[in-house]
Amino acid sequence: MNDSTSPRRAGALGVHSVHRFVFSVPDLAEAERFYTAFGLEPRRSGERIDLHTVGGTHAWAHIFASGTSKRLEYVSFGLYAEDLEPMRRRIAERGQACAPHALSDGAGLWLRSPDGTPLQLVVAPKVSPSAKSVANAPATKAAGPGRAPARSQVRPVQPRGLSHVLFFSPDVPRMVGFLQDVLGLRLSDHSDDIVAFLHGPHGSDHHLVALAKSHAPGLHHSSWDVGSLDDVGCGAEQMRAAGFTQGWGVGRHVLGSNYFHYVRDPWGSYAEYSFDIDFVPHDLDWPAADHPVHDSFYVWGPAVPEDFTTNHEQPAPAR
Ligand SMILES: [Fe+2]
Repeated sequence: MNDSTSPRRAGALGVHSVHRFVFSVPDLAEAERFYTAFGLEPRRSGERIDLHTVGGTHAWAHIFASGTSKRLEYVSFGLYAEDLEPMRRRIAERGQACAPHALSDGAGLWLRSPDGTPLQLVVAPKVSPSAKSVANAPATKAAGPGRAPARSQVRPVQPRGLSHVLFFSPDVPRMVGFLQDVLGLRLSDHSDDIVAFLHGPHGSDHHLVALAKSHAPGLHHSSWDVGSLDDVGCGAEQMRAAGFTQGWGVGRHVLGSNYFHYVRDPWGSYAEYSFDIDFVPHDLDWPAADHPVHDSFYVWGPAVPEDFTTNHEQPAPAR
């Protein structure tokens, strides 16, 4: 989609997509195994892995090898071409510009979040959804023989794209303020200062970015859109069969309404299969609200693992 046909909220200056998230892990081969089993297509590119959907052209993540724990390196947001200079002025006025991350291509605008994470803003196609996700057609609509496939006939689950990323933050309200005021994201919902969900101004899922309170910044999970509740369940099975048995789900969230299964990665964070998340069009004023956490985390599902929100990352060294 080009700029003339992409949706745009009138009068809003802000990013339209999470263009890419970039992190490092101790062992790239392990990352390759995990994300291949998850149904994505990790492609080696020199010293890093580029994470694609199967057959997809866009690299949703870059993964580097570094250190002894997983670590969020930087996050790249996409914006429309006409917003580049206004955004450059906004960042300069606020004194938030920073040097490009050493692992990046150095393109675009760079600024540092209040949590210290470098952020890149680049002119790029809108890769966040511009319409509500569509469910896969059921295998058959006819009455008659059983519709569920034999286990041996289940096809591998392959996510269709990135829905959102959830970051840890030591100060969720401060980060919400920054993401609204500088990047132009809009608050969808939150639970006190514990968790917050923000959508893109030009149309995105209920959350493009989410935040969870922790002692330090970090990457908690990436969430990947699949086409059915069956895909959420079969994804969980697929990962268990590959030896990735830990996680949380299957269940349904309250905020965002999506069906989920989280698979714990080898570094203690998660990749989420997500189906049927709420969509916020560019011209809808979503009624943001504060929800009691005990009543808004999930509608149904298994008990939440004790360490589900443990931040296993080590702080990034100064670059
Ligand atoms: Fe999620």
